[in-house]
Amino acid sequence: MNNLKEQIDPQRLPNHVAIIMDGNGRWAMQQGMERTFGHENGVTSVREAAEAAAEIGIKYLTLYAFSTENWKRPADEVDALMNLLVKTIHSETHTLQKNNIRLKAIGDLGSLRPETRDELFKAIDTTSSNSGMTLILALSYSARWEITEAVKKIAKKVQNNTLRTEEISSSTISDNLTTAGIPDPELLIRTSGEYRISNFLLWQIAYAELYFTSKLWPDFRREDLYEALIDFQSRERRFGQTSLQIKKDQTAN
Ligand code: FPP
Repeated sequence: MNNLKEQIDPQRLPNHVAIIMDGNGRWAMQQGMERTFGHENGVTSVREAAEAAAEIGIKYLTLYAFSTENWKRPADEVDALMNLLVKTIHSETHTLQKNNIRLKAIGDLGSLRPETRDELFKAIDTTSSNSGMTLILALSYSARWEITEAVKKIAKKVQNNTLRTEEISSSTISDNLTTAGIPDPELLIRTSGEYRISNFLLWQIAYAELYFTSKLWPDFRREDLYEALIDFQSRERRFGQTSLQIKKDQTAN
């Protein structure tokens, strides 16, 4: 079948897709260009992925745009990425509005430069009443940072006697992460042929299906998202149960 989109069952879509966008630097180097050229071209892929996901009916899309560790890159690359973020968020707000997409951000947003933060909060505010997909940008984000912050928040509640140690459950942890209220990703995609999680959503991806593609991020197009969704739908998600139990549950429903 040629049309990939038609092979996707709209009834069995993952609620939440997360993407580790990787390979911008290598893509640029392959063309004899500076790494930042790769980031600039990655914006087209961001637009394609977001529009395609919203159109098909994905409820949440999280993109790993800048990690805590990325601050250690050469200063000119960090500058270029921050400027690109400000420029892109500003120029793409109309794309978000047109597609009824609500923007959110997770990460240590306090560590962002004031101009990045202002542009981000402006776009979050402008799109806040959109009711289609929620696009979540992970900025200055790392899962270990997020889990450490959650532990601190929980410890303070115990210290203040607003929470008893025995009451701490898995939901207490989820509710104190930056993703509180957002369902866990069911599908995690990583581009560029690397098989790593790189400190991304470690708690939330406990049961996610992992999909790796050798495509470099600037080459990622809507068809690549469709292929990942088709692959997701071909998998049997068992959540620790046996295959027989899952099949019995499906016949009962
Ligand atoms: C990883 O490639 C990519 C990034 C660190 C940045 C991703 C940012 C964008 C696509 C720009 C705009 C984003 C938004 C959301 C507006 P890499 O540099 O690690 O590539 P390499 O592994 O080949 O070096």
